[in-house]
Amino acid sequence: MQQEIDGLLAQANAEIDAIEDSEDLEKLRVHYLGKKGLITELLKSVSALPKSERPVIGQTINAAKKVIVQQIKQQQERLMQVKLQASLIKEKIDVSLPGCGERLGSMHPVTRVKQRVVELFKSLGFSVEEGPDIEDDYHNFTALNIPQHHPARALQDTFYLQDDYLLRTHTSPVQIRTMEHASPPFRIITPGRVYRCDSDQTHTPMFHQCEGLLVDEHCTFSSLKGLLHDFLSRFFESAIELRFRPSYFPFTEPSAEVDIRRLDEDGRPMNDWLEVLGCGMVHPNVLRNVNIDPDQFTGFAFGVGLDRLAMLRYRIHDLRTMFENDLRFLQQF
Ligand code: DAH
Repeated sequence: MQQEIDGLLAQANAEIDAIEDSEDLEKLRVHYLGKKGLITELLKSVSALPKSERPVIGQTINAAKKVIVQQIKQQQERLMQVKLQASLIKEKIDVSLPGCGERLGSMHPVTRVKQRVVELFKSLGFSVEEGPDIEDDYHNFTALNIPQHHPARALQDTFYLQDDYLLRTHTSPVQIRTMEHASPPFRIITPGRVYRCDSDQTHTPMFHQCEGLLVDEHCTFSSLKGLLHDFLSRFFESAIELRFRPSYFPFTEPSAEVDIRRLDEDGRPMNDWLEVLGCGMVHPNVLRNVNIDPDQFTGFAFGVGLDRLAMLRYRIHDLRTMFENDLRFLQQF
């Protein structure tokens, strides 16, 4: 028996030493130490020996087992090291290669303009209000003094949805939503997306507007003119001249469209008139629709295209480029 054990141990030593692969090593481990392994079988056979021999032989087999376990462990560690070294050599990083750098992202021109408009009006005491892009007919039209079958509905090519819903065609419905839920005075701006079924060099089906609304007891057209002049000259950071052209909007009376031109240091115009926004005194019917007494309160409102402001400020000629996500365009801002 002793000889058998010595022989097995010597054989195991030799075999384990010769292993170069961890899968083979695992097979060897099972071969010697597994449930049906040679050492395990030897241990089982101890019970068949005469009682007096059992302790010595048992101890010898256990000692041999210990040696094999230890040897396998050492061999496992060695194989792991070999593998690690091999992958370290293979995965070597060439620190002399040129880096590819990090590009900093930039803000979309419309976002920049929106933030600037919000900042300027906040400094004048206005707060920002928002409304839903999916609007109902009442808030988008009726409450703004545009009843069913009113020809003004045809001015805006509306995307209609199911039932009475539509994609809002302007940010003016936020006026209504704000006034419905509070009482005057109001000083709000409402930047957001609007939608119209229209597409060419200066129109896209989705664009951005910002509505302004001020309602108070003594609100006049001249304060509207002063506010817009102040806002636009600060926005364009330049001396400007404004021209108010009489116009028609159902929700304001009187209404005007505003054209702008920049002036140089000597007060001479630097460019042709450019249309920037629509405005007017809030129509008494609109105030009545939200239960505000038009004899006590008056208001003015204006609506400005944020994309249009961005085009003027950054001299962009085609509105569509704003929404094509071409990095060569966007990186310029
Ligand atoms: N809602 C108008 C439009 O989309 C813009 C507008 C004009 C808003 C005059 C106003 C306003 O508040 O007074 O064309």
